[in-house]
Amino acid sequence: MKSKKLVDAFNGQIQFEIHSALIYKAMQAYFEAEDFPGMANWMNIQYQEELSHAEKLFSYLCEAGGRAKMLAMDEPCNDYSSPLEVFEAALAHEQIVTGRIDRLMELAQEVKDHAAQICLQWFITEQIEEEANAGLIIKKLKMVEGDGRGLLMIDQELAGRVFVPTV
Ligand code: FEO
Repeated sequence: MKSKKLVDAFNGQIQFEIHSALIYKAMQAYFEAEDFPGMANWMNIQYQEELSHAEKLFSYLCEAGGRAKMLAMDEPCNDYSSPLEVFEAALAHEQIVTGRIDRLMELAQEVKDHAAQICLQWFITEQIEEEANAGLIIKKLKMVEGDGRGLLMIDQELAGRVFVPTV
């Protein structure tokens, strides 16, 4: 990878994906404490997905001859007051990720790194799914308006999520 600016930006995104994993692990911890095992499962799968995103970028960067680096992480939020608040925070976070991926793609285009653009294409598609997943759960949570039985049903549904390794 010839552009140092692009290598730095990839390293920044690797850091951000690992930071995302920590955010979701903290959300899992909230749901474990609040006795929502299905939502905790969903967040644990999301945690694993984020680590796999970081790994995908890391592997690409190393293969492409860029110097990968581990950068310092900020502490994630550990305090939430409701399932709806958690999923709204998750959607807001994914919207930030989408913006970052878009800027990374723009930089790859600017420096004419075609291989990096192909790698980033996967992330652009993935972000559509990431936002849609969180958005759908928010809709359902708003429908039940905090009703216990409704929350239980959503929790049971989210218990079924499984981790599918990134290819
Ligand atoms: Fe790696 Fe949820 O974006």
